[in-house]
Amino acid sequence: MLADRILNVQRSPFYSIMELAAKRGDCIYLQLGEPDFATPRHILEAAKKALDDGHTHYGPDRGIPELRQLIAEKIQKQCGVSYRWEDEILITAGGQAALHIAIMALANPGEEIIILLPHYPPYVVNAQLAGAKAVFVKLKKEEGFIPDPSAVERAITPKTKAIIILTPNNPTGSVYPEEPLRRILEIAKKRDIILISDEVYESLVYGGVQHKSLISFPGAKDHVVHVNSFSKTYAMTGLRVGYLAASSDKLVHLLKYHHTVNISANVPAQVACVTAMKGPQDCVEEMRQAYQKRRDMLVEMLNEIPGVHCDLPKGAFFAFADIRNLGVPSLDFVQYLVNEAGVVLTNGTGFDYEGFVRVSYAAKPESIKQAMDRMKKAVLNMPATLGK
Ligand SMILES: Cc1ncc(COP(=O)(O)O)c(C=O)c1O
Repeated sequence: MLADRILNVQRSPFYSIMELAAKRGDCIYLQLGEPDFATPRHILEAAKKALDDGHTHYGPDRGIPELRQLIAEKIQKQCGVSYRWEDEILITAGGQAALHIAIMALANPGEEIIILLPHYPPYVVNAQLAGAKAVFVKLKKEEGFIPDPSAVERAITPKTKAIIILTPNNPTGSVYPEEPLRRILEIAKKRDIILISDEVYESLVYGGVQHKSLISFPGAKDHVVHVNSFSKTYAMTGLRVGYLAASSDKLVHLLKYHHTVNISANVPAQVACVTAMKGPQDCVEEMRQAYQKRRDMLVEMLNEIPGVHCDLPKGAFFAFADIRNLGVPSLDFVQYLVNEAGVVLTNGTGFDYEGFVRVSYAAKPESIKQAMDRMKKAVLNMPATLGK
């Protein structure tokens, strides 16, 4: 009855973990991929006012001009590169839609998209929906989950269409330094490949680390499709606003896909984004500092659990903990933690990466502390037969 393209998409084990947790009750959820902070008041007020002011009709398909102008100014300021707001910025229904549009508009069936492991799972689903093949390059904990440009280059074939780059990274929390990014861009230019650069966690970097955007390198515009979002920066995941920045010759085609699916992004939410960008940025900094404290506490507690090791992540709000010394498959371990401790994490295999679990610190410090206490106890009581 249904199309193969959707039937072939596998249901994530994440749903069965959530069902298990709901059945058990009294769980602490550290699998979250969204800020636990309330959306800042002034942004909410702007959204409400936009509704009262009658911004409840279709907007321009590319997005409201004022927001596109602000985004173009931000890119100019942060990256020193000019994108025309008129035809090089497209406002989308979150970064998620931006990714879908980019992949569907770029990849032909049979072409290959290079995805670094561990990955953000929708990359693979989008590649599948486009009929393209996901080609994996495995990153290593021992290298800080930073891509080795030579390994990326070795994965390129005549069928390679795009490489997806995600920094700051979900699930590893790594932030890619300038040099590998520069080299990957050089490779993309030489081999005429597009880089899809997902930068939705750009504002969440810690300990003096800087986020380097791929579009800030000279001559990047022709080879990079920049994906970004308001979701994480302003804790407004439910308002669903993201954007794409690309050269006009590409954006005009991305626009066709966006128009077909969405007509325009949510208009009152775009008005709220204008307020978010024009207003004080203290809320962003306050959230960033709070995440940094939680990260420090979480990683310290993770490393006190026998058999678990975690390096300090530099960005986003995830720790990717190494559980290889426990000798248990990550899915079994995550199931055991739900049942035994009422702690919900995400198994590494959900990101095509065994031996690790993702722990989100987008949660209250008390919850993180309690979860780590429970997890330690559960690990100490873990039966030797688990996963055997
Ligand atoms: C790596 C990455 N990209 C994109 C998104 C999409 O976010 P949104 O659609 O809320 O902008 C997410 C959400 O978790 C993400 O983790």
